[in-house]
Amino acid sequence: MPPIYARIIATGSALPERVVTNADLEKIVDTTDEWIHSRTGIRQRHIAADGETTGDLALQAAKNALEAAGVKASELDLIVLGTTTPDLIFPSTACLVQHRLGANGCAAFDVNAACSGFVYALGIADKFIRSGQSKKVLVIGAETLTRMVDWTERESCVLFGDGAGAVVLEACDEPGIYTTCLHADGGHKDLLYNPVGVSVGFTDEPNHGVRIRMSGREVFKVAVKTLDSLVEETLQAAGMQESDIDWLIPHQANLRIIEATAKRLKMSMDRVIVTVDKHANTSSGSVPLALDYAVRSGKVQRGQNLLLEAFGGGFTWASALLRY
Ligand code: ACO
Repeated sequence: MPPIYARIIATGSALPERVVTNADLEKIVDTTDEWIHSRTGIRQRHIAADGETTGDLALQAAKNALEAAGVKASELDLIVLGTTTPDLIFPSTACLVQHRLGANGCAAFDVNAACSGFVYALGIADKFIRSGQSKKVLVIGAETLTRMVDWTERESCVLFGDGAGAVVLEACDEPGIYTTCLHADGGHKDLLYNPVGVSVGFTDEPNHGVRIRMSGREVFKVAVKTLDSLVEETLQAAGMQESDIDWLIPHQANLRIIEATAKRLKMSMDRVIVTVDKHANTSSGSVPLALDYAVRSGKVQRGQNLLLEAFGGGFTWASALLRY
């Protein structure tokens, strides 16, 4: 039997309407646009309105991608949604989105791999398609990460934003996704985590203790080193070289981390998709938002090779090398 590949047939995305600039943040914490931009590349972020949920953004991104694909929701046989900020503890946000799309009946589940959530979800969906189990799959990365932000903590509140992106995958006899690499090391939990939850319990602190704890400088160092070996591993797994990659579509956390990965790949920055300036770090939303921007702006063309990568809490890290 000839091999089956998963091919991205269309992309979509959604951002909340409200934009908060670095100048806006200067009014609430002791920071400056100059500090934020020079350390991270961020100029602004989108923030969900009261009552606007991860599922709302995921739904909008999904509709957008399905419309571009010309695929009806009823044709889907799987929905995988990467998020670390689900609407509810259960049902999964994938189930909530499935029902709102009218795709009832297909398999649907969430993946929590923090900022690597979308690339993990893509890797899982790829396996479902390659095994012959699924033919049309919706993969979403969606977050309202700012709900976990402590707006008095300048070290972290300047870094994050909300948003969602989605892709429709289809079984195909040509690549498609060449390879995906997924990894985790729970030994670094204390460098980036949210300390409360259903099983551990909540606290009397504001927002019930739900807030991001991060050792920024340490996270930065591990991220650069890990992404370095991840891109090496991905190229090897696909039997490709740096020069075979047309576009790097990285997780959008920090421009300096992105530049370090581009340098490792010997790629000039004009072959790297950068949206961190406009979106900040939207965790699972970041890679599919950047991908959708790259497709809709006409930068990425059919037949080009894309390297997607992400790194986040866990730690988790993941990549996908594909022909668009
Ligand atoms: N405004 C002004 N000053 C600030 C701010 C702020 N918002 N935040 C911190 N500072 C101060 C610090 O207090 C420190 O002051 P000090 O020197 O008097 O002690 C100074 O700025 C320098 O701080 P550093 O930690 O050395 O700054 P660094 O260059 O490492 O940048 C940053 C910090 C942006 C957090 C960086 O380490 C980073 O991006 N790390 C990765 C974190 C990340 O991306 N996490 C998201 C999830 S994981 C992922 O997606 C990859």
